[in-house]
Amino acid sequence: MSRPPRYHLTSYGCQMNKLDAELVESRLVAAGYESAASDADADVVLLNTCSVRQHAEDRVWSRLGVLRARKRREPGLVVGVLGCMAQEHQRYLLARMPHVDLVVGPSAFGDIDVKVGEARARNAEKSGDGKQGAHVLAVGEGVSGDAIVRDPRVRPHRSQAWVSVMRGCNMPCSYCIVPSTRGQEISRPIDVVVEEVQRLCDDGVTEITLLGQTVNAYGRDLSRDVTLARLLHALHAIPALRRIAFITSHPNFLSPDLIDALADLPRVARFLHLPAQSGSDRMLKAMRRGYTVARYLSRVEQLRARAPQIALHSDFIVGYPGETEADFEATVELMERVRFAQSYVFKYSPRPGTLSAEQADDVPEDKKAERNAILLQVQERHIQADAQALVGTVQEVLVEGESKVDGRWTGRTVHHRLVHFPSSDRVVAGCYLPVRVTQALGHSLLGELLAEDHAVLPAGATA
Ligand code: 5AD
Ligand code: SF4
Repeated sequence: MSRPPRYHLTSYGCQMNKLDAELVESRLVAAGYESAASDADADVVLLNTCSVRQHAEDRVWSRLGVLRARKRREPGLVVGVLGCMAQEHQRYLLARMPHVDLVVGPSAFGDIDVKVGEARARNAEKSGDGKQGAHVLAVGEGVSGDAIVRDPRVRPHRSQAWVSVMRGCNMPCSYCIVPSTRGQEISRPIDVVVEEVQRLCDDGVTEITLLGQTVNAYGRDLSRDVTLARLLHALHAIPALRRIAFITSHPNFLSPDLIDALADLPRVARFLHLPAQSGSDRMLKAMRRGYTVARYLSRVEQLRARAPQIALHSDFIVGYPGETEADFEATVELMERVRFAQSYVFKYSPRPGTLSAEQADDVPEDKKAERNAILLQVQERHIQADAQALVGTVQEVLVEGESKVDGRWTGRTVHHRLVHFPSSDRVVAGCYLPVRVTQALGHSLLGELLAEDHAVLPAGATA
């Protein structure tokens, strides 16, 4: 074959997954692969999967079903399943989908290029002699993704990057598969993170998002004085960095020093993803979240007293086993009290192997759907009111790119709100621009650009 082999990778899941995808792509590109525009053009089709909810898994199973037909026509095609489903289902996956060539868990991405190469070689042999070759299965404790030397050039946006600061989760949440797919918490030392961020900044990054399942528990596996607050202070010293965000935080680790960092460090992003999951103490106990509603609210009050501008984001699960109308009403009440800027609402789905999967999934599907819709409506009302209150204000917007609507650009405020504004010749992705909000749209804001000489360009860029 004269042209380089092409891969196509799709991610189904969280930010952690998307970062894994960048690391995998960075390995493949370094090994001479090219990215294909669609999976129809690819020699290697990779699905980077997530097990947190049934829905994400269902999408992967159905995509694998579609790929089965293509694989019959093109036996040389490599089909790979990466990530949490690979870790979780391993041999079951190969038994149910025998056309899958490659199964690689998140802890074994370090030499993904070699594994893809092996799968291609086996397929070539198979096509030659018609015999079934073995699959490549790599799910054990391999080289963690963090050990991959990251190519700073492989990332979706020039000025934005995700940075993993810890992997795994040690929390005992009854419904959650993450501790079993991603393992125990492992934090990366402060100097290692700072060095990676510095390299990204040297390549034009000005906004980073630190990633961890419980990112504010960062460092507790290293030593007492390694904390997220310390890391934020260290990163704040990098002059090129204009925004530092971090997701996802657990309410139990919202410590006073983190609240101080949010209040005192101007370049730390003004939003906090602090999933409440439920507003009922009974449910929180069953979920083993380790806090009560009163404790959650008191943390929120402490935060708001010190840093009133922080936009709070939450996750909620509706239809957890045993959830009554009264439990659900308590969740609505919590949402009304806190007025989150954004919430993800999930219908409970039992994950095999978790504690809650041993209980009957007894809230009927239509009840879950109804509660899901009600919570989303409440959230919607708050989003609308919030957006209305911003009309007339000037926001600093980091430009992400052209919007889907012709003639408009899109960016985000420091609170992570999406803003569209009419284009101008001098706008480039990566600029920080002052935009006056003129209208509240559904989930976004419409604005107008203020005088362009206010434009703040990223280091090294020219307009
Ligand atoms: N069912 C529904 N939602 C879940 N989440 C995690 N596990 C489950 C499950 N079994 C949600 C939680 C978490 C988010 C990432 O996914 O709200 O915060
Ligand atoms: Fe899952 Fe709980 Fe860990 Fe979040 S904190 S990843 S919900 S176990």
